[in-house]
Amino acid sequence: MAAALKLAGVRKSFDGFPALDHADFEAEAGEVHALLGENGAGKSSLMNVAAGLYAPEAGRIFVDGEEVVLTGPRDAIARRIGMVHQEFKLVRPFTVAENVLLANWRGRFAHGLREMERQIRTQAEQLGFAVDPRSRIDELSIAERQRVEIIKVLLAGARILILDEPTAVLTDEEAVRLLTTVRTLAARGTAVILVTHKLGEVTAFADRVTVMRGGRAVAVLDARSTTADELTKLAVGTRVTPPRRASSPPGARRIAVEGLQVARADGHMTVVDATFHVRAGEIYGIAGVGGNGQTELVEALTGVRAPLAGSVELDGAGDTTGASAERLRDLGIASIPADRFGYGLAGGLSVIDNFCVGQVHTAFYGSWLWTDGASMRKAATRAVAEFDVQGVHNMRQKSALLSGGNAQKLIIAREFSRDPKVIIAHSPSRGLDVRACAAVHERLLNARAAGAAIVLISDDLDEVLSLSDRIGVMTRGRIAAEFIAPADRQAVGRVMVHHA
Ligand SMILES: Nc1ncnc2c1ncn2[C@@H]1O[C@H](COP(=O)(O)OP(=O)(O)OP(=O)(O)O)[C@@H](O)[C@H]1O
Ligand SMILES: [Mg+2]
Repeated sequence: MAAALKLAGVRKSFDGFPALDHADFEAEAGEVHALLGENGAGKSSLMNVAAGLYAPEAGRIFVDGEEVVLTGPRDAIARRIGMVHQEFKLVRPFTVAENVLLANWRGRFAHGLREMERQIRTQAEQLGFAVDPRSRIDELSIAERQRVEIIKVLLAGARILILDEPTAVLTDEEAVRLLTTVRTLAARGTAVILVTHKLGEVTAFADRVTVMRGGRAVAVLDARSTTADELTKLAVGTRVTPPRRASSPPGARRIAVEGLQVARADGHMTVVDATFHVRAGEIYGIAGVGGNGQTELVEALTGVRAPLAGSVELDGAGDTTGASAERLRDLGIASIPADRFGYGLAGGLSVIDNFCVGQVHTAFYGSWLWTDGASMRKAATRAVAEFDVQGVHNMRQKSALLSGGNAQKLIIAREFSRDPKVIIAHSPSRGLDVRACAAVHERLLNARAAGAAIVLISDDLDEVLSLSDRIGVMTRGRIAAEFIAPADRQAVGRVMVHHA
């Protein structure tokens, strides 16, 4: 039987630099096919070719054995190829149904919104999701938005479903739910392509796995009989050992948060009472199911959102409650936000500008009258090399063109290069390959050894458990319990779900 999707000898370059070269790929109907490879290996680019978004310079595409030429995403949808992208493409002020309708207006417009709402409900039910077609995208959590994306693509008729790092933005529990749904879809004959950096997902949920390196596929393996070690070696060329936290006595209280209350933009109070402190040389982990106030807590701690009540005290600076992001930055607070392009980077600006933004006014790169372009370039170039941000061929290139993981590395390079006193890190390893993930963990531990106070908020419980000195579990806007390392995974997990 011919493969549902086959790509042969694909080549695609950007500004003369090849992102894909002789890339081959095949997925069969009824299988979950994982696509693995380091940041910048070309996974998203290859899938964008299959989804009709990028026109390849060379290579052939076959659907069910028949050669096709895709002139655009609509063409790919007509061939029943659908893709859920790494950065979602939903229109935020619109409702779920309106978004689905926008993507499917041709064939089903005649039936209108009502019919669309009915179809969304049916599709959601079949997948085991609860989705209200009338809610606005803004009001939905990341996991819910992702379900909308999947429903949108399936209602357009996709039977080759490409999911680009779907679990990067999900909690463990949400990820297992999604992957179980994915298995159901495969059992019904869909070819599911799952791009991921999580090796455990590959061995537990995929049938086969293609490993990419440097723009081409280097191996296709049976996912069930391979090991995480073998996959890592193929993907990054070496073995990766995660860094370990050395025990060391913490110093003085660096940041103290007392009775903090924060509301979302719509007025809903999501942080009800956050009380904790972090000492110099300490990592304070905040575990919890996503959507329990973590994002708003981070926003309040980094000056993006003013709290309604409570206080934040910073050692040496006194009360900094409600201080602006700029002031907090000047006081030595670094921030690695979970929403890369929302808060972390200005996609339209160059790599240099993104690196130096926030320091231009500090006279570090010239005075307020002029900026020292040469030293900006030098500092940015050094950091890009040191933090292994790949795919930067020109420091003036827009940061939006970096691969997902490399964009995250650029933020991390910027934030760590300032010797911060306090680091607020929200899902810092999101979207990073195994090696980059280990490198970020090592940076956090080095900053801890150098005396920084670190707040680590993460949906990834293992990340929190392995790095933190103390762990607060956040549920319903409160730190419901605190654990001292080494904390028992199940005990932490119980508080997470019990109070949620
Ligand atoms: N539209 C674009 N313009 C310029 N360069 C691009 C574009 N899209 C991708 N690239 C480059 O192509 C290379 C491969 O990127 P791609 O996004 O395919 O990697 P990836 O394997 O998906 O990585 P990640 O795991 O970080 O998401 C990178 O160097 C990236 O900068
Ligand atoms: Mg990608």
